[in-house]
Amino acid sequence: MAEKLMPAEMRLLVTGGAGFIGANFCHYWRQRFPQGHLVVLDALTYAGNQASLVGLMNQAGFHFAEGDINDTPLVEKLLHEHKLNTIVHFAAESHVDRSIHDPDAFLHTNILGTHSLLRAARKVWLDAPGGVIPHRFHHISTDEVYGTLGPQDPPFREDTPYAPNSPYAASKAASDHLVRAYQHTYGLRTTTSNCSNNYGPYHFPEKLIPLVILNILHGRPLPIYGDGQQVRDWLFVEDHCQGIGLILERGEEGESYNIGGHNEWANLDIVRLICELLDTAFAADTFLAQRFPHAAPAQGKAAESLISYVKDRPGHDRRYAIDASKVGRELGYTPQHSFAEGIRKTVDWYLQHSDWWQPLLGDVYAQWVQKQYAD
Ligand code: NAD
Ligand code: DAU
Repeated sequence: MAEKLMPAEMRLLVTGGAGFIGANFCHYWRQRFPQGHLVVLDALTYAGNQASLVGLMNQAGFHFAEGDINDTPLVEKLLHEHKLNTIVHFAAESHVDRSIHDPDAFLHTNILGTHSLLRAARKVWLDAPGGVIPHRFHHISTDEVYGTLGPQDPPFREDTPYAPNSPYAASKAASDHLVRAYQHTYGLRTTTSNCSNNYGPYHFPEKLIPLVILNILHGRPLPIYGDGQQVRDWLFVEDHCQGIGLILERGEEGESYNIGGHNEWANLDIVRLICELLDTAFAADTFLAQRFPHAAPAQGKAAESLISYVKDRPGHDRRYAIDASKVGRELGYTPQHSFAEGIRKTVDWYLQHSDWWQPLLGDVYAQWVQKQYAD
């Protein structure tokens, strides 16, 4: 087995670093290794936002490259020019609903884009004129590749068979298989993590938790798909970043690790909890009603009165749950945030960062929401 790179030796290419988890990871990594070298490659799609990298953009050792992961020559150039030896691959189309309306972009980025990175990594690191360059390719994947669980089923383990149900999940499953194949066939030093639902700062407001927070602040309906009894296992994003850090440091080549929060919630219960948190925040701070005059609690209504049942997502997975015992046992991983703490931090963050989310409520988001409800 090849010797592991020490974290301080790692020079990172972070794909999708302007997205939700990628940006949180950049902040996490730079805090741990302020002297380290980190290059973000991001196409700045609707989900990418340089404002999420606030405080990092001008730091020495931090570089931002706008570009597509499908541009293999660009990836090779970045690997060469910055002497990068580690890829942490977040870039993806990540929203299940969008994959149902328009799967093509998911195949392009998630499958072909991942292959483009693997090809570049193989060429630069494995086929280097002076012999193999020590390296790591870490691929960020999802629990959705395992499909759906019944109420009594045991949580997903790393050996649970893949059974992806949405075009998004199928594209992520394909990318996982490509990563595996490059390790098995060419000896590329890869690791993969399959994580459950993340929440926290910089989360694009088309996903359930930020959507509900912002819709309450704007007095808009809170759309609950179907009966709202679908279950997800929620993890604070910083805890996901910690897990990725441990895998980079201690993970075994060729292995995959499930990361989760042991924190299953039905969607309707999550939405009710967020309603309660915002009602309480408005009651405690009268200034909030001035800042958000359309918010339900500013209008003397309980936020829950905005709940609105809408048509279910086609093929909607009923339940996800992660067995994270392998990453705990082998790498010493434990989430640091309780859900009560993480969700409160998240609600507070959105209350304090309207400068971040306000610009996102323009065209793309409005068009998307319109399209969603037109069906
Ligand atoms: P996101 O949609 O917030 O961000 C994706 C980022 O990738 C954006 O910055 C976007 O501009 C960039 N991007 C998209 N296509 C690109 C391309 N062709 N080239 C370069 N950059 C491109 O996604 P996220 O929620 O941060 O998810 C990050 C990764 O984590 C994804 O691979 C996703 O499948 C996985 N994941 C997400 C969750 C979750 O709860 N959000 C859970 C488990 C796994
Ligand atoms: O499980 C990991 C996955 O979690 C990641 O791989 C995906 O990238 C990420 O987007 C997330 O997928 P979900 O589909 O679970 O997340 P989303 O926030 O879109 O939805 C969470 C649940 O809430 C899901 O059961 C659908 C439901 N929902 C969602 C929205 C946006 C609603 O009921 N109403 C909504 O308006």
